[in-house]
Amino acid sequence: MQENYSIKNIKKNTSYLEVEWNDGQKSKFNYLWLRDNCPTAHDKDSRHRMFNILKVSTEINAKKYNINNQGKLEIEWSEGEHISYYDVKWLRENCYTLKNKKKYNSPYTLWDSSLQENLDSIKIDHDEILNSDRGLIKWLELLHHQGIAIVKNAPTGEKSALPLLNKISHTRETFFKTPFEVINIPKPNNSAYTAHALRNHMDLPWFENPPGYQFLHCLINDAEGGESSAVDAFAVADYLRKNENEIFETLVNTPLRFRDKDYTQVAHRSFYAPAITLTKDGDYNDIRFSVATMDALDCHPDIMEKVYKAHHRFGNLLHDDKFQIKFKLEKGDIFSFNNRRLLHGRTAYNPNSGHRHLQGYYMDRDEIIGRLSFLKK
Ligand code: OGA
Ligand code: ZN
Repeated sequence: MQENYSIKNIKKNTSYLEVEWNDGQKSKFNYLWLRDNCPTAHDKDSRHRMFNILKVSTEINAKKYNINNQGKLEIEWSEGEHISYYDVKWLRENCYTLKNKKKYNSPYTLWDSSLQENLDSIKIDHDEILNSDRGLIKWLELLHHQGIAIVKNAPTGEKSALPLLNKISHTRETFFKTPFEVINIPKPNNSAYTAHALRNHMDLPWFENPPGYQFLHCLINDAEGGESSAVDAFAVADYLRKNENEIFETLVNTPLRFRDKDYTQVAHRSFYAPAITLTKDGDYNDIRFSVATMDALDCHPDIMEKVYKAHHRFGNLLHDDKFQIKFKLEKGDIFSFNNRRLLHGRTAYNPNSGHRHLQGYYMDRDEIIGRLSFLKK
């Protein structure tokens, strides 16, 4: 990116200044936007905006303007007896005219079952992450872009994944406790705490904000069975968007009801959300899919058939061998993934044939993206 931006020409309009840059680009800077972003608007310590835009009228405009001898854009405002001095580089980097012209690039690398042949590409060594920012960045990049990573050679003591997770941030607490113990227990309050197979699912879809990431730390996996599966539900959504658009639209536009059914709880938690949500750029935001915890739906009778058929099709593709990968977790693996993008599952295991114990952790998505962004700068 070019660093030495300078302003060639400025023209005054009714509601904005039009700036022409030395590289020929043109930007519109609205007066209210400029006044609101005056560098003096923010407290130098808290960095919060102290200036209150509601104190000026919506007719505010630039009475005088010029590039001063320090190279700053200087504006004398039509009201409030205030002069603002803008750093030209800041204006260019924060220019909303040019930002809105840029083509959106998705951070997501969608994958299907062909990842199976390349599983090494999502593996990373525990100590490499623990001992270097480069390793930590690589892990975070896998999590953010691919949505999946398998950490190898972690210690296998109880809670021993925590020092690694804390290299990113704090974990997200839930009533399942941190970590949650994925073992076969009598009178299970969750189907994960059995030896049964788990269909591909996300965890906790009945929360308003389900955990963004999940980490399943394998302490021991000696029993017969208990093989893992994972599917990139963004890739499946993308397939539907391109090939079966009516189904895709139904999944985006119909809120489904999810409900926690945990008998140990003294709270009823439930939430409505569509199976697929999109971002402001039309990219994939999150997925809600769990056969186990989708509640009795109460959509309008005119659309129930359509909604169930879309759910049925989506669910079948989410279990299709064209899309999913399979692997068996080994002692010392930490299966790490975006819980609102990937679905995960396992085959049944025989609890009499050996031990199986995973410890699970959750983390909010903000922590992953925020930490990666900080480390990359
Ligand atoms: C879970 C889960 C998978 C496994 O605990 O949420 O899906 O392999 N576990 O036991
Ligand atoms: Zn799960």
